[in-house]
Amino acid sequence: MKVTYYGHATILLETEKAKLLFDPFISPNELAKNVDIDAIKPDYILLTHGHVDHVADLFTIQTNSDATVICIAEIQGWLGNNDVDKTHGMNIGGSHNFDFGRVKMVNAIHSSSMPDGTYGGNPAGYVIYANGKVIYIAGDTALTYDMKLLEDENLDWAFLPIGDNYTMGAEDAVKAAFFINCKNIIGVHFDTFPPIKLNHEATKSKFAAAGLNFILPEIGQTIDL
Ligand code: NI
Ligand code: MN
Repeated sequence: MKVTYYGHATILLETEKAKLLFDPFISPNELAKNVDIDAIKPDYILLTHGHVDHVADLFTIQTNSDATVICIAEIQGWLGNNDVDKTHGMNIGGSHNFDFGRVKMVNAIHSSSMPDGTYGGNPAGYVIYANGKVIYIAGDTALTYDMKLLEDENLDWAFLPIGDNYTMGAEDAVKAAFFINCKNIIGVHFDTFPPIKLNHEATKSKFAAAGLNFILPEIGQTIDL
């Protein structure tokens, strides 16, 4: 399984059977201007919540790829009202077997509305079980004790927001890594906007000091999980 980082919280997870794109926000991101969104053809698009920095390129990429959108029920309803019917609605705590593996929708502490102001339901994270690996995509979230519910999931990798201000910052993400009992952490949701510009070396030091294997991905970087 491999993952490619497209900036902000946008990641493409490639399992043996399917390409899963999370939270497409590329074309408004100056830092990701070299990414060709027309070349991204996922089989599934997974949304953690409705904020524009997670859905900006949703319609373009869904139209280009005919991907199925996996999201919370309220966002599924909004997509239906916007002529996207190839969707799979879920809700917090539920899991479902897809052709590539199992997806569980889990709690996140944040807010969620669509770019037009429509209520977006609750924000969510995902646990993906595919190809013998277990991957946690936290979404935009604060540190929360609910993360301890994942401690016996044998997570192989976790994508955690680390930019602070809109989500938890690096100190809380280090605590989150221990709550979820996962040593392999990839940081997301940093550098895109002035309030979330990170000191990369200081951030890496915090994770290293805690004995964690931490990756601060470059835009366009592909990582073997
Ligand atoms: Ni958000
Ligand atoms: Mn966000």
